[in-house]
Amino acid sequence: MKLAILGAAGGIGQALALLLKNQLPSGSELSLYDIAPVTPGVAKDLSHIPTDVKVIGFAGEDPTPALDGADVVLISAGVARKPGMDRSDLFNINAGIVRNLIEKVAHSCPKALIGIITNPVNTTVPIAAEVLKKAGVYDRNRLFGVTTLDIIRSNTFVAELKGKKPQEIEVTVIGGHSGVTILPLLSQIPTVNFTEQEAEELTKRIQNAGTEVVEAKAGGGSATLSMGQAAARFGLSLIQALNGKENIIECAYVESDGEYARFFAQPIRLGKNGIEERLPINIMNTHEKNKLENMLETLNKDIKLGEDFINK
Ligand code: NAD
Ligand code: LMR
Repeated sequence: MKLAILGAAGGIGQALALLLKNQLPSGSELSLYDIAPVTPGVAKDLSHIPTDVKVIGFAGEDPTPALDGADVVLISAGVARKPGMDRSDLFNINAGIVRNLIEKVAHSCPKALIGIITNPVNTTVPIAAEVLKKAGVYDRNRLFGVTTLDIIRSNTFVAELKGKKPQEIEVTVIGGHSGVTILPLLSQIPTVNFTEQEAEELTKRIQNAGTEVVEAKAGGGSATLSMGQAAARFGLSLIQALNGKENIIECAYVESDGEYARFFAQPIRLGKNGIEERLPINIMNTHEKNKLENMLETLNKDIKLGEDFINK
């Protein structure tokens, strides 16, 4: 299997590449691309780690050599937030970056499973979908917005609050990946109960966790290490599914069946062709239902912004 990272010299890209060099199955190929000239050096550096994963690195304007024959492409190329910014403030720069990269993906590896990390995810995923559609290669089962960071954060925060082991908690997080569109379904976690106030505060913390990191880094960027871990988990799930492992469930921001919004983060079952099944979103309590209702205007606006960016 070949996995390509676009944006590989960045904070997320390097953390992700390190984890994958150590965790991809034996015989895999890790292909690194970034406009930054350091990228072949990042690949060289990683290549000295003794695992049976071949690493190659490409820099410059054209990602094509990195994409050739890729089975999975993870995209973290673009700019990150600074304090005082919203994820939507990244649109002006990152929309064009994602569009250009996806045009190359459509040409070089149209069957690859594509995971978009670049923000604003609520909008960059619709952009990618429309570019792939224009190129005649769109398959809604092969395009994912990576929202795994919301899940691992929720697992950590719930475990901390309830004195549990984080590995024992798996929270379903639905909606999108910004502010009110991030909705952890705390009522669904088996064996854990919350007071109304606890659920309210925890939901806010999960929705605000990206900003927590941006502020703590004080102008030095946003989450990179936890995101590297999250993207590695998601990328490895995609690779395992392609290798035939069954019953791999992840949450991701994908083209949905349209019940709430065209794109919606939800639990999915992965298989050899990407999404095998969009799983039902289980019963929510009244608070979660209200929060879901309240996010839809924002989410739909974010989606339309992406669609219009390509189609107008
Ligand atoms: P970073 O600035 O450290 O790295 C970005 C990299 O992208 C840089 O190495 C840069 O050279 C590269 N790049 C820029 N334009 C490019 C292009 N046209 N082609 C190839 N590479 C290009 O930023 P980061 O911290 O790694 O974050 C990257 C993106 O991921 C940001 O948009 C950030 O908001 C987003 N992010 C998403 C999540 C999520 O949960 N989905 C979490 C954290 C960060
Ligand atoms: C996050 O959730 O940490 C990322 O989306 C980065 C950000 O800007 O918050």
